[in-house]
This record gives sequence, C-alpha cells and structure tokens, in this order.
Amino acid sequence: MKTLNCELHHQIHSESLTEPDRFWANAAQELDWDRNWDKVLDDSKAPIYSWFAGAELNTCYNAVDRHVENGRGEQVAIQYVSPVTESEYGITYNELLAQVSRLAGYMDSVGVKKGDRVIIYMPMVPETAYAMLACARIGAIHSVVFGGFAASELATRIDDAKPKLILSASCGIEPSGVVPYKPLLDDAIGQSKHQVDTCIILNRSQYTADLVTGRDVDWQSAVASAPNIACQTVAATDPLYVLYTSGTTGQPKGVVRDNGGHAVALSWSMKHIYDIAAGDVFWAASDVGWVVGHSYIVYGPLLVGATTVLFEGKPIGTPDPGIFWRIIEKYQVKSFFTAPTAIRAIKRDDPDGDFLKDVDLSCLKTLFLAGERCDPDTLHWSEERLNKPVIDHWWQTETGWPVAANLMGTAPVEVKAGSPALPVPGYQVEVVDEMGDVVEPGASGNVVIKLPLPPGTLTTLWNNEQRYLDSYLSMYPGYYLTGDAGYMDEDGYLYIMSRIDDIINVAGHRLSTGRFEEVLCQHEAVAEVAVIGVDDKLKGQLPLGLVVLKKGVTLSDEELYRELIALVREHIGPVASFRLVSAVQKLPKTRSGKILRGTMRKIADNQEYKMPATIEDPQTLELVRNALTRMGYADAHV
Ligand code: COA
Ligand code: AMP
Repeated sequence: MKTLNCELHHQIHSESLTEPDRFWANAAQELDWDRNWDKVLDDSKAPIYSWFAGAELNTCYNAVDRHVENGRGEQVAIQYVSPVTESEYGITYNELLAQVSRLAGYMDSVGVKKGDRVIIYMPMVPETAYAMLACARIGAIHSVVFGGFAASELATRIDDAKPKLILSASCGIEPSGVVPYKPLLDDAIGQSKHQVDTCIILNRSQYTADLVTGRDVDWQSAVASAPNIACQTVAATDPLYVLYTSGTTGQPKGVVRDNGGHAVALSWSMKHIYDIAAGDVFWAASDVGWVVGHSYIVYGPLLVGATTVLFEGKPIGTPDPGIFWRIIEKYQVKSFFTAPTAIRAIKRDDPDGDFLKDVDLSCLKTLFLAGERCDPDTLHWSEERLNKPVIDHWWQTETGWPVAANLMGTAPVEVKAGSPALPVPGYQVEVVDEMGDVVEPGASGNVVIKLPLPPGTLTTLWNNEQRYLDSYLSMYPGYYLTGDAGYMDEDGYLYIMSRIDDIINVAGHRLSTGRFEEVLCQHEAVAEVAVIGVDDKLKGQLPLGLVVLKKGVTLSDEELYRELIALVREHIGPVASFRLVSAVQKLPKTRSGKILRGTMRKIADNQEYKMPATIEDPQTLELVRNALTRMGYADAHV
C-alpha cells in the first residue's frame, strides 16, 4: 500500500472536535429528516449528551423506503448466502420494503407500539434483518440476542427488556448441525418472570417447531395477510435498539442506541472509513447478534443504499476455507469486514492460500478487521496473500462504530502492524494513568475518550442510567472509560493491548469471566473459582477455570470437569467455548482476599510476572502453575 501522511486525517479529526455542530450537521445532510434539529449537540444534561435534539426521522425510511423512491428499487439490498442450507438469493430494495412493511403491519396489529421492546432471537437469515427494520419502522425498540447464547441468558434479557413481542426461528444451522432455537426460546420464556404475549416463529425446513397455541404465530401466515404500514416518525433521540453486552457481572449491560445520531454516524462511516457508496457491495462476515452485525450487516450499508451480504456460514468448514474469497468474487464485494480469528482459521486450514489461486479478487479494495486485537502475523499473512490494504480498526458495542481506524474513503494513512491507526473524527482519545494524567507517547495506560462522545455511541444503559454513569463516566470525570488499555505512539497511532476488567475476547466474542464464575459456583462440589482468559492461537483467548473443591467431594476429576463444562454450556451457551478446567487446592490471593487473576493469566501465558507484594501465600502460585502446566499452559509452552 502506498504510504500516505496523516495530515488530512488530522485535519478532519481536528475539525470534528473544534466544530462538532458544523461537522455533524454536515454529515446529517446525507439523511432524510422529518423535522430539523433544534440543536446538533445538546449538552444541557452533561455528562449525558444527546445529538440532533428536536429532530425527527425514521431509520427504516432512510434505510429502505427512500432508496425505492430514489430509483434503487430493483437493486439488491440484501444478498443472502447460506452454504449451510445451500441457498443463495438476493432481496431487492422493492422486496425488502414489501417484507418489512408487512411484518411491521403485523406487529402493529398485535399491539406493538412506539417505544415497546421486541426481542429478536434468530439465526443469520434475511428475516432477522426484516425484523430489525420492521421495529425501526414503527418506532419499537429491538433487542437482538445472539443465537449462541443459552436459554438462561435469553431469559435474563427478556426480564430486563420486558418485550411485548419476540421474533424467533425454529433453528439455526451450525457446522456441527441443526441447532434448534425454539426449545431454547420456550425454556427462556419459562424461566423469565416477564410474560410475553406473542412470538412470531419462522419455521425453517431443517427443523419444524411446534407452536404454542395462543402465543406463537407462524411467520409466513402472519405476514401473508398483514397490511403494509408506513414509517412512524420518531425523535432523533428515541431509542432504536438495546443491545446487551457483557459487563463485569453476570447481569449484561443493555447498550441503548438512538435513531438520529446512529444513522448519521453510520452513514458517515460507510463513506469515510469503509469507502462505500450507494450501489457498492459491502460484506461484514459477522452475526447480527453482535454490534458489527447491527451496524455493518444491517444499518450502515442499507442507510447508504449499498448491497449488504448476509452470510450464514463460517470462514472454514462451510464447506472450505475458500468460501470467503468465492463470495467476494461472485458478488463483487468492494469492502470486506471480518474478525482476525476468522483469518486465523483460514490461515490454519489453508496456510499457503491455495484457495485464493483460482479467484479473481480485483473487485476487493480493502479488508477490514476488528473485534479483537489484530496480531501482526494475521495482518501480514492477509496482506501478502490478498495484496490489498488490510485495515485493523477498533471499537466496541458501546461506541457502535469505529473509534480508531484508517479513513480508507477519504484520508488513508500508513498501516502500522498492531495498531488500529488513528482516532476517528468525533473521538478525542487519550491514554491516561491512574490519576487521569495523559501519559507520554509509548507509555501504557487506560484508554479514555473525552466527552462528549460523537453521534451513534451509547446514550445510556437500558433501565439503568446509574450503571452507565458508574461503569463508564465516573472513574475519570469528563471522560468515557473504554475498559481497554494500550498506548499511543509519537504519531498518535493507538495500540490496544488488553482489557482492564474481567472481560475476555473469545473468537471475537466478548464474554465476562465474572459470569463464568457465577455459573461454576452453582456446582455443589465447588467452593471457590477463578476464571481467566488464556491465549489461544485460533480464538485469541479461551476461558480457563480453576476450581477449589469443597471437602468430601467424591466425583472423579473427569466426571467433575465434564459436569462443569456442561453447566457453562447450559447457562451461558456454546459460544462460551468452555473446555479448560482444573481443580486446585487453593487460589492465589492478596492478604485482603482479592484473587490474583492477572498474575495467574501471566503464568498461563508464560509471561514474566512479579511476585505480588501483597500475596497471602506464595506457595499458591506454584499450585496454579502446576495445574496450568498439566493443562498445556504455563511452562508447557516452553
Ligand atoms: N447459534 C447457535 N450456536 C452457535 C452460534 C449461533 N449463532 N454461533 C456459534 N455457535 C456455537 C458453535 O456451533 C460452537 O458450538 P460447538 O461447541 O457445539 O461446536 C460454539 O458456539 C462456538 O462457536 P464459534 O465461536 O463460532 O467457534 P467455532 O469453533 O465453531 O468456529 C471460528 C471458530 C474462528 C471459525 C469462528 O469463531 C468464527 O468464524 N469467528 C468469527 C467471529 C466473528 O465474526 N465475530 C464477530 C465480531 S466481528
Ligand atoms: P465488543 O463490544 O464485543 O465489540 O468488544 C469490544 C472489545 O473488543 C474492545 O473493548 C476491545 O477490548 C476488543 N477489540 C475490538 N476491536 C479491537 C481491535 N481492533 N484491537 C484490539 N481490541 C479490539
């Protein structure tokens, strides 16, 4: 890639911070508004800020209807590719409008109104996008729950969001086979205190679910007779969706996204970061259950009138590691977005890039990677094999769109391996020490963002503004705490190295070790437990549990481990990828009783560590080291 300097990037970035009103008002011109804003940035309730106060619009109108009105009706809006079901078809903007307005019509007819919550627990099928857009159309607030979560995780979200309606499907299809969703849904509804009136169920041919009389409705029959419904105008500041993400406790955080700021930020990012305009083809190979899916499978590409690829499959095994490349070629994808773990999986199965040999990827301009730290090996392997710019960029569920990135649409800069490049316009990113003082370039610290956050970022946590203030805004007043640690170099490039809390990142999926610990403690044999994230070549990190047993446990180790693994799968879900567990006699703790998880993590990953001065019993570290070595970690790496 041609090396370019950072001047233009810095200039745009600086304009966004010195004149945010002008900057974002300008960006907002890309959308259709029903009423103009009174204020671009409303800081009257700081540190809670809102964008485009007084304005009104409809996100679904901007993502669907207006493209039909502007002559894009025959263009494919969603290109569905499902190697696992051997099905592949395009949905035009005309068809999308018809599907979404009828589904919205049905939802309205069963009493779902503006502001009501709707849970969507679905696999990667076009109907999932219809469901999200139908909610947006009538001003209902959707909350998509990732299909790899267990029934109890779904139940927690049902009780927090209190949905009027749930949309689900009979099953998802994983490489391991058909995963029935409906029994999980029924189980979750059984577990939750909140009662749901109506469930719309998409019965797929791979697994037919029984419908509960009086509650469940078959998707096709619901939509068949439903009236089309027009878009309902909402306030720019009204919530569009709630997306739950892992916090440090078992109770997930419901990140609230607004309508106006979200639409503005996403359409800005499509052009400036991803270099995508109307008519282009964009593909984010993620899942709609994650923020990447919300922003860049559904809303971002559709808001700008692009074609989005919705892929039901995996980078490998569905059927082979060439699937990504063949889809890019077949559908002429211009920008492609996936997680480093997906590239590592391809690299493992096709190290020499043999599957790239017979495809013509001249359509592809850029590969974007995010979701976890992009290790330099993965970056270089992809650069060399694809011969395209490979762009790491960093963001989180909370921010909804990139915080640090290379602006490939307007001001590309030099790629530095290990760095997601520079802070994106709108974000004033700083690296600070414990006292909140900015550290020298190259020195590590907590990565924070000066308030206000730009449009499109979280506005609060659902039902819990205090938790929002406590978790993100209190540690450094005037700043948003990202929870990530890292450093900035002399050129202002950011390097995100680790989390400062108990969150781990498994195959690009964000999970809370606190939640693992809560679940493992439920086992009657367990007295105490610590879960840490250990390095993994494929998935980045894996959860590893160390348990201290109660006296008199008669189970064999093998039986115990099997039960603990099953317990996590039952309560968190298969996405937890929990397979590493061992019993230890005692956990290392400080004299005040704090478990030394950080030190254990370093031992597991064979990194240097200092004996903590406050350790209660140094011997415990040896016990842990022995257990980890037996599991193939710690000294076993040497
Ligand atoms: N519904 C039901 N089950 C699901 C699921 C879903 N939507 N998604 C994952 N699972 C299950 C998988 O079937 C697997 O179950 P198993 O233990 O029975 O095999 C388990 O959850 C773990 O899945 P996954 O994390 O996908 O691991 P994997 O070993 O099947 O595949 C990768 C490994 C690297 C190929 C895969 O993780 C991947 O493609 N990652 C990309 C991540 C990504 O896009 N992240 C989003 C942020 S950008
Ligand atoms: P999620 O909210 O699931 O998107 O996870 C967000 C977290 O993933 C961030 O806070 C980081 O810890 C990590 N993350 C995401 N993208 C990157 C990246 N490009 N580099 C380093 N870490 C990343």
